[in-house]
Amino acid sequence: MTAGATTIQGVRWRRAWETIDERLGLSGLAYPVPAHANGIGYILGGITLFGFLILAATGIWLAQFYHPTPATARESVIYIMNVAPLGDLVRGVHFWVSNIVMATILLHMSRVFVTGSYKRPREANWLIGLGLLAVTLGLIFTGTVLKWDQEGYEALGHNVEAGDLLGSFGFWFSGDFTASLPIIGRLYIAHVVILPALGTLLLIGHFLLVKRHGISARPAQADAAVDGGPVPAKGGSTFTAHLVRMAGFGLLMLALATIFSLVWPAGLGERPIPGTETTKPPWMFLPFYPFEDWFGLPALLWVPAILFGVLALVPFVDRSPYRSPGRRRVFIALGALVAIAAVLLMSYAFVTVPQAHVQEAI
Ligand code: HEM
Repeated sequence: MTAGATTIQGVRWRRAWETIDERLGLSGLAYPVPAHANGIGYILGGITLFGFLILAATGIWLAQFYHPTPATARESVIYIMNVAPLGDLVRGVHFWVSNIVMATILLHMSRVFVTGSYKRPREANWLIGLGLLAVTLGLIFTGTVLKWDQEGYEALGHNVEAGDLLGSFGFWFSGDFTASLPIIGRLYIAHVVILPALGTLLLIGHFLLVKRHGISARPAQADAAVDGGPVPAKGGSTFTAHLVRMAGFGLLMLALATIFSLVWPAGLGERPIPGTETTKPPWMFLPFYPFEDWFGLPALLWVPAILFGVLALVPFVDRSPYRSPGRRRVFIALGALVAIAAVLLMSYAFVTVPQAHVQEAI
């Protein structure tokens, strides 16, 4: 190819790009972001976002075959596994990505905690993040019920009892809310409409605030600025480069989840036997499980309520302007204690024999 032809080709590409950009304003995405935003610690939120996109795409495929009634739910999952095109693989990817996303959220939250990035002016974004955590747990919980196997049925039993404990505020969780639709139908609507819609609204708020405040500077640089040193520079990379990196990690997550689904396909338990409790919840709920053994089912409500309440208070209690872990030793130690307690509780729940907690037959 001659140099002239290359130039003509180049001019055509540039014109095409300018035509598109004039209409879509894509070059506006190339705004400066700090170089450290591309480091693994600061891109975990973005990786989580790509995880949610994979969950939405695979979930839409699963919804073409899933049938949410007590008589047909488990059978339709078996249909997905054995008959639906790519059903088993898509279901496996949906299952594994949900687990990976839970892990990336916890790591993202830990990074924000360790670097003190919830401090002024980011307190509201920490609270929105807690809302996102609750929505994600809700999605995993309702997704577990939808399988309608023994584990799913026991999860539903907990859902109904939680509704009873909430008294008149718990009406939605009860099977008596309406006679026209079985409760699994309403939990399905929560899984595919209510929680995704709420999550999307929270995500929009989360990202608008990240854009408004910018990614927090590295703690050492931020602390130096507090002590009268130079204000950290804002540039170093661009948001488009950051987005490409996020997408790269997103594809890596998809590849991992695909391998996992081929090696360890998503399981389906036995047909549920009402009145029995023989399973334990998925790993992210295990830290709460021992409290149910010790204090009964009400612990299902007050333990998460206390945990979320304490987490919500963090930015309003840790108020010094410094962000380096070395200058926030008490808070780092308390955070480490909570993390160690969660791991110990999980391990304890893992080795104990399942106990019956639900009183009411559903
Ligand atoms: C669905 C889950 C979540 C998604 C998709 C998400 C996404 C993001 C993204 C893309 C960023 C930009 C920087 C980064 O990636 O670290 C960010 C920042 C932030 N997130 Fe999240 N996040 C989620 C959950 C949470 C949770 C659970 C918390 C804390 C309770 C939280 C608190 C924050 C804060 C305070 C920032 C600003 C950090 C800074 O400027 O350094 N997020 N989030």
